[in-house]
Amino acid sequence: MCGIIGIVGTRPVAERLIDSLKRLEYRGYDSAGVASVEAGRLERRRAAGKIRALEEVLREQPLGGTTGIGHTRWATHGGPSERNAHPHIAGRVAVVHNGIIENFAELKRELADAGHVFESDTDSEVIAHLIDAELNAGLEPVAALKAALDRLEGAYAIGVLIRGEDELVMGARRGSPLVVGYGQGEMFIGSDALAVGPFTNRIAYLDEGDYVAIDHDKALIFDAAGAPASRPVRVVAASAALVEKGNYRHFMEKEIHEQPDSCQHTLSAYVDPIERRAAPPHGFDFAGIERLQIVACGTASYAGLIGKYLFERLADLPVDVEVASEFRYRDPALRAGTLALAISQSGETADTLAALRWCKTHGLTTAAVVNAHESTMAREVDVLWPTHAGPEIGVASTKAFTAQVSVLAALAVAAARQRGRIDAAEEARLVGVLLEAPRLLAEALSAEEAIQALVQDVAKARDVLYLGRGAMYPLALEGALKLKEISYIHAEGYAAGELKHGPIALVDEQTPVIIIAPSDAAFEKTASNMSEVIARGGRVILITDPAGAAHAPEGSRVITAPACDELIAPLVFAAPIQLLAYHVAVQKGADVDQPRNLAKSVTVE
Ligand code: AGP
Repeated sequence: MCGIIGIVGTRPVAERLIDSLKRLEYRGYDSAGVASVEAGRLERRRAAGKIRALEEVLREQPLGGTTGIGHTRWATHGGPSERNAHPHIAGRVAVVHNGIIENFAELKRELADAGHVFESDTDSEVIAHLIDAELNAGLEPVAALKAALDRLEGAYAIGVLIRGEDELVMGARRGSPLVVGYGQGEMFIGSDALAVGPFTNRIAYLDEGDYVAIDHDKALIFDAAGAPASRPVRVVAASAALVEKGNYRHFMEKEIHEQPDSCQHTLSAYVDPIERRAAPPHGFDFAGIERLQIVACGTASYAGLIGKYLFERLADLPVDVEVASEFRYRDPALRAGTLALAISQSGETADTLAALRWCKTHGLTTAAVVNAHESTMAREVDVLWPTHAGPEIGVASTKAFTAQVSVLAALAVAAARQRGRIDAAEEARLVGVLLEAPRLLAEALSAEEAIQALVQDVAKARDVLYLGRGAMYPLALEGALKLKEISYIHAEGYAAGELKHGPIALVDEQTPVIIIAPSDAAFEKTASNMSEVIARGGRVILITDPAGAAHAPEGSRVITAPACDELIAPLVFAAPIQLLAYHVAVQKGADVDQPRNLAKSVTVE
C-alpha cells in the first residue's frame, strides 16, 4: 500500500513530511517524494529507492514552505523510478495517490487529445491533469477536486496541493483509507493515524467517498454526494496506530473494511496493469508441472479449494486440495512433477508446516502463499508468493482470505497463459477483471445495512446451512466457518446440489439457509434448491447480484452484491458472508476478535 501525508503547518514542512513517511515504511514502497507550496511556487523532490535517497536529494536541493504533501509509492502502474514517483504535477496541481484508477487509460487519452502532456507511466498522474483542467475551466479548488473525482473509477486515497494556495491541502478517499489530523493551528491528512502521529493524536477517519479541504484551523469535509459532513474526532495513541481499530469496534470489522485496499495492494504485486498481463513474483513456470497439491487448514484451505476451481478451469492444471492435518498422516501417493503449495496467513500453522516438510522430504518443489513474509513457511519454501494484507489481528481470517484468493486468481491466469490455454487478449481481459476487484469489493461492503437487517433472523437460529455451487461452494464452507467460529452457532456449508442427498432433512422453519448464488450458469439449478427449501418452510437468505435478485423466489430474503466476472466472484461475495457472521456475533455479544477456544495461529498439531 502506498503512504500519504499532507500538512498545512506553521513550521518548515520538508523534514516533517520525511518524519511521517518514515512511519509509513511498514506499508512497503519502492520510491518516495514530497512537494510544497510557498509564495506562489509549487516545488517537488522525488527519489527512487528508500527514503534516505529522498533525504539526500533534499540536502542538495532544500524544499521551502510550511504546507506540503508526501508519498511512499508501491509501484502498480509503471515501474519504480523517479519519473513514476509521486507527487505528480500537472500545471498548478500536485497529487499523491494510493490505489488503482481503473479507467486511467481512457482519461489519459482524452486529456492528451486536449493537449495535456504526460511525463510518467502512472495512472495517478491523470488525477493531477483532471484537477488542473477543472481549475483552468474556472472552478474553485474544492469544486475542481469534486469534478475530477466524479470522473474516476477504481479505488483511491489522494492528497492535493495547488500552486498559489499556500494554506490549502485537499484529500479524498474511496476504497483506500485517509484520516484528518487536528493540530494546534495546523492540520493534516494521512493514510492512517501513524502517518499523522508525529504531529497530533486527534484523528477523524474519512468515510467512503468523502473528500476534504484543510487549512490552518479547520477541515471542510464533504460526503460522496458533495454535502458537508462531519466525522467524529478521536484521540488515538500514535504508538498503537499500526494495530489500532480506528473507527471500528473490532479488529475484525476494521479488517473486513480494509479488504479493497489489501486486495489492491496484493494484486498490484501480481499483475502488470500497463501491459495487462499476470506477472507474479518469482516467475515460476506452471507449464513445467503436471499437478498442484495444496495443503492448508481452515479458512486457508477454503481459499485453496477456490484455487482448485480457478486453476483447473483456466489452466487445465489438475489440483488436489487437502487439509494439512489429514494429508501428512495418510501416506499420500505423490508423483514427481507435483508442486506442493501451502496456503497460510501466519506461515506458522503446525499442521501445514508439517505437511509442507513432508512434501519436501519426498522430493517435491514447495511453494507457499503466506501473509507473514518472515515466517517459517516463507523461509523454508522454494517459491514464495506473499499476500500483502498487512497485519491481521482478528482471529477470524478475513482480509488474509481475500488476499489469498487474489494471489491464486492471478497465479491461475499466469498458469493459463504459460500452459497455452489463453492468448494475450484473454489474459489482458482477465487482468482487467482482477483490477476491478478492489472497487467491487468496496461496493459489496456497502450492503452492510441490508445485512444488519437480517441479523436477528440468524442470531436466534440453532443451526444454519450455507449452500453454493462451483467456486461458491468453498465460499459456503468459509461462510459457515466464519459464523460458527465467532458466534458459536452451529453452521455447515454444503455443495447446493448435495442438499437433497441428506441435509434437506435439517430444513424447517428454524433453520436459515444461506445460499450464495451469483447469476451465473449454475443459478437456475440453485434456484430450484431454493424452492425445495422454501417448500419445506425453510428460510432462504439469498446472496446474489442484481440479475439474480430479480429472479429470487417468493419468500426469500436477498442480499445483493455487485455483478462481477466469475473469476472474482469469490472475492466480491466474501464480503457479505463475512459481514453477516460479524454482525450476528456482535448481536450475540460474542468476543469477536478473540473467540473462545481459538488462537490466531495454531502452532501445535
Ligand atoms: C480462520 O478464520 C480461522 N481462524 C482458522 O481456520 C485459520 O484459517 C487456520 O487456523 C489457518 O491459519 P493460517 O492461515 O495462519 O495457516
